[in-house]
Order: sequence, then C-alpha cells, then structure tokens
Amino acid sequence: MQDVIAFIDSNRKRFVDDLVEWVRIPSVSSDPSHAADVKRNAAHLAAHLRALGAGRVEVWPTAGHPAVFAEWLVDPTKPTLLVYGHHDVQPVDPLAEWVTPPFEPCIRAGRLWGRGVVDDKGQVYVHAKAIEAFGKTAGKLPINLKMIVEGEEEVGSVNLDALMRDHRKDLAADFVCVSDTAMFGRGIPSLCVGLRGLAYVEVFVDGPALDLHSGSFGGGVQNPINALARMIAALHGDDGRITVPGFYDKVRALTEVERKEIAALPFDEVEWLRMAGAPAVVGEKGYSTLERIWARPTLDICGITGGFQGEGAKTIIPARASAKLSCRLVPDQEPDEIVRLLQEYLAAIAPPGVRVRVENLHGGRPYLAPTDHPVFEIAKRAFSKAFGKPTIFMREGGSIPFVRTIADATGKPCLLMGFGQPDENAHAPNEWLDLENYHLGIKSAAYLYDEIGRMA
Ligand code: BES
Ligand code: ZN
Repeated sequence: MQDVIAFIDSNRKRFVDDLVEWVRIPSVSSDPSHAADVKRNAAHLAAHLRALGAGRVEVWPTAGHPAVFAEWLVDPTKPTLLVYGHHDVQPVDPLAEWVTPPFEPCIRAGRLWGRGVVDDKGQVYVHAKAIEAFGKTAGKLPINLKMIVEGEEEVGSVNLDALMRDHRKDLAADFVCVSDTAMFGRGIPSLCVGLRGLAYVEVFVDGPALDLHSGSFGGGVQNPINALARMIAALHGDDGRITVPGFYDKVRALTEVERKEIAALPFDEVEWLRMAGAPAVVGEKGYSTLERIWARPTLDICGITGGFQGEGAKTIIPARASAKLSCRLVPDQEPDEIVRLLQEYLAAIAPPGVRVRVENLHGGRPYLAPTDHPVFEIAKRAFSKAFGKPTIFMREGGSIPFVRTIADATGKPCLLMGFGQPDENAHAPNEWLDLENYHLGIKSAAYLYDEIGRMA
C-alpha cells in the first residue's frame, strides 16, 4: 500500500486537473437543451475509465440519459465491489449568484468551485483516481471492481430500474459502495448508514375554463389558487405532523438505542442554522433536529404556480393553479403507497368548484444499512486510516434511489462513503469540493479496496 499512497500524494495536483476537465462539461440532466452535453459527459468518463485500464467499458443507453459501466476483473477468488455514482448535475440557476461561472471550475481557499464538483463528479473521480493509483503502482487492483455511473440521478433515476433489470448479471457484486453524500463535519470520516426516500408529485387544480374578470365573476366561482392554498394548509397540523391519513402507518419508530446514538453526535445546531441562513429551527414536535432530518418523514411544497405573476396588479380569477410537492420518506414507507394516500386525501379535501389531479413525478425508497455486517468495520478502518480519526456512523436526509434498489436486488450491503462537506452548496450556487477531502477520499477508497481484498 505504501507505493499506492505515495502515488496518490505525488499526483495530488494532477488528480484535480483531471477532475476540472470533466466538470467543464455542463451535464445538466433536467434541461433538455443539455442532452448532448450529458451524452458527451458520459463519453468523456468512459474514455477516462478506459485509459485507466478497465477491461470493459460501455455506455449504456436508456430511455433518457446514458449510464457508464466499467469493469476491472482481476481474480475470480477475490470479492467484487460495485461502485456507484452519477455524472449528471443540477441546474445552475440563479446564475448571477455564482462568484465564478459554474462550468469554469476554479480553485479558491483550498476548494474547487463549480457545478458538480462534489455532487457527484468529484466523488466519482475519488474512485477513478484510487483505481489509477493501483494500476500505476501494483499493476492491478486488489479486488474485482465494477463501476456504474448513471446520468439521471438528479432527475429521479426514472430509468434505473429498467437498466438494472437489463444488466442484472453485469452488476452482480459482493459489496456496493456509493460516494454521493457529505461527511458529518470537517475532518470527521463518516459512514452514512441511512437515507430517506422520496415521493414527488405535482398537484393540478383546475377551475374556470379561462382567466376571468374578478369583478364580474369573483364571489361566484371557486378560485383555484385559493382552493390550492387551503388544501396545502390542511396538510400539516399545528404540531408539525402531516395530516394525510395513513401517512405514518409504516413509519418505523426510532429505538432508544438509535436516539441515544444520534444524541451523542457532536451536532452544533447553531452552526447548522447559520448554514441554512434561517431564523429558527422548526419541525415535528417531540424530535430533535437531527432526528427530524434523518429519521422522520416530511411533506414540503417545492414550488407553486398560478395566476398573475407580472408587475403591478391584474384583477383576475385564475383558471388554474399547481404545486410541486415532495415527501421525504423513512423505513418502511413506500413511495407508491404515499402517492396513493396523497391522491385520496387531496381529492377528499378539495373544495367544491375545482377539479384536482395528482401526478406522480418520481420516487425512491428509503435505506437503512445492516451495520452488523463485517464490511462496515472494514470500511470504518479504511476511512480512519486515511483521515487519521475514528469513523462515525451517521444518516442523511437526502435520497439516492439506486441504493435501496441495488441492496434489494442483490441482498448485499451498501456502503455510503461520502466525501462532501455539510456546507458544500450542493444544488445551490457556488458548489465547492474540499480539496483535502478529495485527496483523503482517494486514499480512503484505496484503503477500502485493499481491506476488502484481504477479507477472508
Ligand atoms: N447527493 C445527493 C444525495 C444526498 C442529498 C446525499 C443530501 C446527502 C444529503 C443526490 O445527488 C441527490 O440530490 N438526490 C436527490 C434524489 C432525488 C432527485 C430522487 C435528492 O435527494 O433530492
Ligand atoms: Zn444531487
């Protein structure tokens, strides 16, 4: 391992340069005008992995954006690790808030700034560079390694199930590692052992056939925005709990042990609030902030539209209104069931005089890792070797649909070894990657491969 680590140390700068080249490609999956860029982005990664000596590299088309698959099979007696990441990135708006342009990555204050540097291109390259370090020193990896890097994670991985069905054999592995999360805090190696799931719907409320004069018709017909606002207001109680009947039925309660473990973490709520830039913490009664963001479900309006949005005043009863609504889910909630409950409840509380339709946009199931599996001790050891500190277990409130899907399909545990920082501005302007974390992440991945290679 000494020469692998030495190689990582002596190529520190070039590893950043390689990443910079990839970040320049604007692989925004949600924007159809960037479809060709997402494709070019996949091709760039495929070429890079081919240059790293993968025996097989393929770009897998989907009904949407393509995924990249690569494989280094070194020894059938060794375990096989499947590494997952995504090569698509979030949109950049509001563009004016970026200090430097999102697709012209630059280094300031020990950080690399640009869209996708940490979510998730930098974390994919953590693995690519660890693979390179073995290739250029030992000549080969200590394990069999497969990599699947999808192009639609940021838009809900809608074609992932089909892809995994079609490539079940290609994706077979003993362990799975996903690097697409943040660490608990600066310099604290953190294995993420839980993710929330997601149910995302759009609610359409239709009233009159066209925008009406509010003087001539106001008071005589239902206003779809008024109706939508009333419905949305009815989704939470004063205690912060969601009122949709059956919503909590499948929620697994936190155990006393889990609550103690969460409470023991060095969580700085003041600092967390400063990061959010919000005036106060708010949420479901009876739970701490960490419990609420990691292990309790939520219902949030992500966007709302309708009526007159122009300057000044315009007196109308709008024809329609709509809202995008997302629920973060926890074990054992099922996205499809939550969508059905939402549909039923919204239909039941719709005021007279409007038609309500709820469309299912996408979802993902929650994940809780089997931390008693020996691979978690191994991963902790690898992480700690690189960072020189004890590794902690944490959860995340975000979602990565692939994780639960692959865990269910293979029955194998999934390691969530993330190298982001809590305030990395993922999905926001001025996303950044801590370059020290990138460097130590590459070492962590190398140690992980080494440790797994020496597993009995
Ligand atoms: N890297 C995130 C997942 C994540 C978010 C991890 C927050 C840790 C904390 C990933 O790229 C992401 O944004 N996922 C989406 C998934 C959704 C579109 C199904 C999310 O969580 O909103
Ligand atoms: Zn993301």
